[in-house]
Amino acid sequence: MDQYSTALDRAHEHALDWLSSLDRRPVSPQASIDQVTQALGVALPDDGSDPAEVIDLLAEASDPGLTAMPSGRFFGFVIGGTHPAALAADWLVSAWDQNCGLRRVTPAHSAVEDVTGTWLLDLLGLPSGSAVGFVTGATMANFTGLAAGRDAVLRGAGWDVARRGLNGGPRVRVLVGAERHDTVDLALRYLGLGSPEPVEVDGQGRLRTDALQSALSEGSNEPTIVVLQAGNVHSGAFDPFPEAIAAAHAHSAWVHVDGAFGLWAAASPSHRRLVMGSEEADSWATDAHKTLNVPYDCGLAIVRDPAALRAAMGMHGAYLIHDELGEPFDKVPEISRRGRAFPVWAVLRSLGRSGVAGLVEGLCRHASAFAAGMDDIAGATVLNDVEFTQVCVTFGTDERTEEVVRRLLADGTAWMSGSTWQDRSVLRISVSNWATTENDVERSLDAIRKAVLGL
Ligand SMILES: Cc1ncc(COP(=O)(O)O)c(C=O)c1O
Repeated sequence: MDQYSTALDRAHEHALDWLSSLDRRPVSPQASIDQVTQALGVALPDDGSDPAEVIDLLAEASDPGLTAMPSGRFFGFVIGGTHPAALAADWLVSAWDQNCGLRRVTPAHSAVEDVTGTWLLDLLGLPSGSAVGFVTGATMANFTGLAAGRDAVLRGAGWDVARRGLNGGPRVRVLVGAERHDTVDLALRYLGLGSPEPVEVDGQGRLRTDALQSALSEGSNEPTIVVLQAGNVHSGAFDPFPEAIAAAHAHSAWVHVDGAFGLWAAASPSHRRLVMGSEEADSWATDAHKTLNVPYDCGLAIVRDPAALRAAMGMHGAYLIHDELGEPFDKVPEISRRGRAFPVWAVLRSLGRSGVAGLVEGLCRHASAFAAGMDDIAGATVLNDVEFTQVCVTFGTDERTEEVVRRLLADGTAWMSGSTWQDRSVLRISVSNWATTENDVERSLDAIRKAVLGL
């Protein structure tokens, strides 16, 4: 016990030092990979060390090389922070060290996973009775939903992919908006389905239903999957779910929704309209480590028909203890896994329904404040309709925009990355952290103003 106690005490202290440093430290890391490597030391020691000393060395060597991702002024990629209840629960996940693949072997996690799954379906407005799998992130949630879809549409064509594989089977068509997230393509590669057929999008990156209609009617009766998006990574835009899903279902296609961050609009009464109709799809992918602010890594794969998911992911082992209700591992690609439902339960229990709505609305309010703040920054133009959490800004020419991004990152007050959207260089702002305050937005706008000065 002494070894646990001293090591955990040190970890607790370092964690609090880190969290309390977030408001004042630069968001960008202050040490290079080489510097951290040198501080850690490269040689594997012949002899062991005390765990508490190892934790001190790890924390001290790593500290300058940490990016302040949980800071309220980190707006890169789509990266949430960590809610205190989720973080504390995540520590217990490690201490409890449950392998949560088998339902009866870890009753505490199974109970929490059942309750959390029901809460999630309720908050996300998805059909009750859908299967909810806890995966590593939206990439694997896309993979999981699309695996269930691939197998189902092939089964509908009389082909048992689980037994026969893909070789010699019917081709599966996959239609997806031209501005899908790249992980959809990655998931399709894992599934042996190759590249999807891109469907034309509008000026906000939303799939055009007329283009989808004509693509669907051009094909014969091939097994088909349509992938829609809730939350474009640049504009935050949402595909037109009611029309697109009706068109896809009229052609017996499986519909999967990639809602890595956008599906959470459903939890807010004022933003629910953005995802209206998405509940008619067959599978959904979202993350808890983005909008819900649980620590990495936690994604959610949701499939309307639990049997379809189990057909794609289920397995049986003679040495395993099986439960007649099915196993948590029947809903995800891997067998062994950590207790991912514990932190999700903790944040939902701590926030409650109104707190989750408030979290989503706060992110959207800050994104709107960023967009409004651009009005008095010379040369800045917001390119997207800011309906959700994403803001894309140009500062005139691509060169000027790229220079602003460079200066901002060097300054370190806020962290926002550059990207290219619809053939223009942009500064991308993604508001995903529960901890962001009005003051963080003001400080970040000031940093942008400073970066623009003298251009
Ligand atoms: C729309 C969308 N889909 C999928 C992903 C991949 O998510 P993850 O990094 O959790 O695998 C992202 C990440 O930002 C995303 O925005």
